[in-house]
Amino acid sequence: MDALPLWAYGYIHYPTVPDDYSMRCQGERADPCDRPGGLPTDPTDTPRRVPGSERTFTVAQINARYDPADWFPDDHPPMPDIVAHGKASQGARACAICHLPNGKGLMQNGSVAGLPREYILQQLADFKNGRRHTADPNKANGYEMQAVARNLTEAEAQAAAEYFASLPYTKWVRVVESETVPLFTATVNGLFLRSEGSDVVALGQRIVEMPEDTEQTNLLRNPRSGFVAYVPVGSLRQGRALVDSQCTVCHGAQLRGMTLAGVIMPPIAGRSPSYIGRALYDFQHGARTGVAAAQMQAVVQGLGEQEVIAIAAYVASLDP
Ligand code: HEC
Ligand code: HEC
Repeated sequence: MDALPLWAYGYIHYPTVPDDYSMRCQGERADPCDRPGGLPTDPTDTPRRVPGSERTFTVAQINARYDPADWFPDDHPPMPDIVAHGKASQGARACAICHLPNGKGLMQNGSVAGLPREYILQQLADFKNGRRHTADPNKANGYEMQAVARNLTEAEAQAAAEYFASLPYTKWVRVVESETVPLFTATVNGLFLRSEGSDVVALGQRIVEMPEDTEQTNLLRNPRSGFVAYVPVGSLRQGRALVDSQCTVCHGAQLRGMTLAGVIMPPIAGRSPSYIGRALYDFQHGARTGVAAAQMQAVVQGLGEQEVIAIAAYVASLDP
């Protein structure tokens, strides 16, 4: 891949004047990495509900930096303090605001539920020691993730890893082959949102992943409301052939992960195709260089964008 696959990083067009968070986000605190204006606001402070929850929160409470809404406390074990509240003293937001209390995440960050505990710890260490970052300098939340990891104590990393590893990752992205996609916009944080009305645009050679329900995900952060990904016609078949010949040997026949000779191959089946596209580009462009990343570098070397689209579409379509 020569250029950043825009669809994977949540762009329709790359900004003409991008911000450079790789520079802005060098310090100890995490809050300089937080892009302003990325979250919805509600001047009326109306109490909100989501289906199936007894709780009410305003939009400000839903997005509270150090205590974001937990609509369904019965859906998960008690959250460790770092997951529920982050670290205000370091400006590090709660893990739950980005990855959701159930760890299933949004297309612009990623799912952490059901990843092996040791894998999570390894990734947090890689973020912390600079061996993992996003390849896109404009991707503020990617650099914020790195700053959050820099601020974790060993005990906090352990608690968060244990918690997210204990959660099941269940089907969260519906994959549809299509020539067209509903008209959509992109937020400054890399989330695609369906526009109102029934207009469609040509999909072309890209994957467009968006919430099934804009309001439930973007305004209310309902952790039970998932995503739909539109993928090019024929990509699932092509992806399957590529994956069966190149990926299952390490990630397992169903891509649910395995450990071989002490190396953890993470589960990837059913996860966000945008996230998978970014991971493959990041490996290819030297943004992921942790100990285990060497295994991936050879694999991604020759992959072109069209193959990555097919692979990401197929992997995301599988049952986790
Ligand atoms: C500002 C939002 C934000 C917060 C807060 C945040 N993360 Fe992340 N996290 C991200 C993003 C964005 C990525 C993916 C980066 C990418 O795609 O390059 C990520 C990726 C990860 C990954 C890698 C997942 C994988 O499959 O390899 C782990 C593990 C992780 N986060 C754990 C945590 C933990 C634990 C916390 C709390 C201590 C946390 N995150 C807080 C945004 C966030
Ligand atoms: C030689 C073994 C090996 C092969 C073959 C392999 N992988 Fe991996 N893969 C790994 C390892 C090990 C990691 C963890 C890397 C790390 O720790 O950063 C990984 C990580 C990943 C990730 C990132 C997961 C995450 O949560 O961030 C994706 C996506 C991925 N592989 C996709 C693929 C695809 C698609 C193929 C086939 C085209 C493939 N891999 C082939 C070993 C392999």
